Amino acid sequence: MEEIPPRPDVIVPGEKVYLGPIRRDLARVYQRWMNDLEVVVTLTVLRRVPLTEEDELDWFDAARRDTSSKMFTIYERPDDRPVGNIGLHEIDFQSGTSEVGIVIGERSVWGRGYATEALSLLVDYAFTVLGLNQVWLRYVAMNERARQVYDRVGFREAGRLREAVRVGQRRYDLVFMDLLAREFRSPVLAEKLRLPRDGA
Ligand SMILES: CC(C)(COP(=O)(O)OP(=O)(O)OC[C@H]1O[C@@H](n2cnc3c(N)ncnc32)[C@H](O)[C@@H]1OP(=O)(O)O)[C@@H](O)C(=O)NCCC(=O)NCCS
Repeated sequence: MEEIPPRPDVIVPGEKVYLGPIRRDLARVYQRWMNDLEVVVTLTVLRRVPLTEEDELDWFDAARRDTSSKMFTIYERPDDRPVGNIGLHEIDFQSGTSEVGIVIGERSVWGRGYATEALSLLVDYAFTVLGLNQVWLRYVAMNERARQVYDRVGFREAGRLREAVRVGQRRYDLVFMDLLAREFRSPVLAEKLRLPRDGA
């Protein structure tokens, strides 16, 4: 069992989980998630398993320096246990767009709604704090669990690249989804920051 460092900063507060910073001292925890084949089977990082602690520290240092991305750790309430990572990638302030990505690395907490809440908090941050207009994502068509989450947060399918991904011996479509700021009602941050909810 890894040692969990002192209480993280709460950046976007939720009910079951909250978003806080990624932390170098959690690299060993992130490494364990990324080396869990059941977690990464539909992710591109699968090709890089087994990841060493150095790989994970390199990832952390790159993520910290990358000004076009914002990575968070998802922490479980009330114990502040890190359970996953979530982030905005390829943020384009000119266009007002960003890709989103999520991993709940602790498989024992899957199915509790953590991903749904964490994604909704991240989208709130993207629209309410960063002022983006559209967020998008991609997932491998076999990932039904992820699709449920994206549907619930309000993403709509934008299209798919047919048979663009191979997992094991099978080929799957790569599905793209997007969500616009005007289609999303801020669950937390508009009220917390005393901003209009609809961006008006
Ligand atoms: C996909 C992932 C983020 C979902 O996390 P989670 O915390 O379990 O998600 P939630 O609990 O918010 O929602 C999962 C929903 O999918 C449903 N679900 C679970 N297994 C399912 C399946 N095989 N088919 C369809 N729906 C399923 C659950 O019932 C739940 O819905 P419910 O709350 O209505 O019961 C998590 O499993 C994960 O990190 N997987 C590995 C990485 C990954 O795939 N990331 C996304 C890549 S694009």
